[in-house]
Amino acid sequence: MDSTLYIGLMSGTSMDGVDGVLADFANGQIRTIASAFVPFAPDLRQDLMLLQAASPNEIEREALAANALARVYAQCVDELRPHAGGPIAAVCAHGQTIRHRPELGFTRQTNNPALLAELTGIDVIADFRTRDVAAGGQGAPLVPAFHQAQFGKPGATRVVVNIGGIGNISVLRPDGRVTGFDTGPGNVLMDLWIARHLGKAYDEDGAWGATGTADAQLLNILLDEPYFQQPPPKSTGRDLFHADWLDARLARRPGLAPADVQATLTRLTAVTIARAIEQETIEQDRKEAQAVYVCGGGAYNGLLLKEMAQALGGKIPVGSTQDLGVAPHRVEALAFAWLGHQFHKRQAGNLPAVTGAQGPRILGALYPA
Ligand SMILES: Nc1ncnc2c1ncn2[C@@H]1O[C@H](COP(=O)(O)OP(=O)(O)O)[C@@H](O)[C@H]1O
Ligand SMILES: [Mg+2]
Repeated sequence: MDSTLYIGLMSGTSMDGVDGVLADFANGQIRTIASAFVPFAPDLRQDLMLLQAASPNEIEREALAANALARVYAQCVDELRPHAGGPIAAVCAHGQTIRHRPELGFTRQTNNPALLAELTGIDVIADFRTRDVAAGGQGAPLVPAFHQAQFGKPGATRVVVNIGGIGNISVLRPDGRVTGFDTGPGNVLMDLWIARHLGKAYDEDGAWGATGTADAQLLNILLDEPYFQQPPPKSTGRDLFHADWLDARLARRPGLAPADVQATLTRLTAVTIARAIEQETIEQDRKEAQAVYVCGGGAYNGLLLKEMAQALGGKIPVGSTQDLGVAPHRVEALAFAWLGHQFHKRQAGNLPAVTGAQGPRILGALYPA
C-alpha cells in the first residue's frame, strides 16, 4: 500500500528558516506527527536577501543559494524522518521566493529539488506556484484550499489569517466557498525595523512596539499604498514591501522615535488585515465572520493580536489556529504537505476564486527518489 506520510517544508518571506511538518493523510484525515524548525545561518539568509533584487552574477549566486537551501531542507527532513516509522511518500518543498511578479508572468521559488531527492532518497515535490501563474493566476496565496480542508466548518464563517513575512486571509464560508488574498505586510516591516534599531530578528510578543505609540500621520502615509486598495485577486512580497518602500514613507514623517514607528508598523499590519476581513465578510456577504484564527509567526505577537481585535472593533473574537488543534507555526508547512498529497492524487491545489487562475490546476513537479 502507498505510504500516506508526507513531509511539508516551508520557508517564507520572513526568511527566518525552514518549518517542517511530518503528516499522515490516512483515511482522509490530516494528522500532524512531528514538526521541526531549522534556522537559516546568517550567511545563507544574507545570500537569499540579496537575491530579492537585481545584482551582479545572480544566476550563479542563485544556483549556489539553491544548493545551500536544499541542504538545510535535507537537515529538516533528517530531523523528521525518525518519527515516521515507515516509508515517506514525498517531501513537499516550497523553496524560497526570490521574485514574485505574477503581473509579468512569473514567480520564482529558488530550490534544488534534484539535490534534495539525492540527499534524502525520498520523492520530492517542488515548485508549487508556477503552474497557477501559467494559468493566469497570482500563484498565491496557496494555503486557502488547505485552510478549508483543515479548518472549514459547515454553516460557519471562519477567517484564517496567516501572518508570515506577508499576511494573507482565507475566508471560509458556510456553503464551503473560499476567498482570500495577500493583505500586505505581515511581519516583514516590523522585522526589518527592529533589526535596524535593536539588532534583533523580531519583536518578541510585540514588547518593543508596546512601549511606543502608533502615529496616526505615519499610519495614513503607509495606508496610502495603492496595493491596499487594489481589488483581489492579488498577492505581494518583498518585491513591494522592502526597506526602500518604508524609508521613502518615513521621510515624509521624520523625527519619530523608533519605538513609535514599530507601534505604527504593528498597527499597519493589524489595520490592513482587519480591513480585508471586513471587506470580505461584511461588504460582500452582509454577514460577519464568527471568528478569526491567526497562524504563522505573527500569532506569537501579543500586541499585534490585540491591535487586530481593536481594529475589528471588538466585534469578532481573534484567536489562533491552536484553538482548532493546529499550532500556528505548523500550519503553512502542513499546508504544503497537503498540497503534495493533492499532487500525488492528481487533484488541484489552487482555488481559482482566490488566485484568479483560469481553472483548478495540479500544482508541483515530481523529482523521484
Ligand atoms: N514570539 C514571537 N513574537 C513576535 N513575533 C514572532 C514570534 N515568533 C515569530 N514571530 C514572527 O514570525 C516571523 C516568522 O513567521 P513565519 O510564519 O515563519 O513566516 P514566513 O512564512 O514568512 O517565514 C518572524 O520573522 C517574526 O516576525
Ligand atoms: Mg518562516
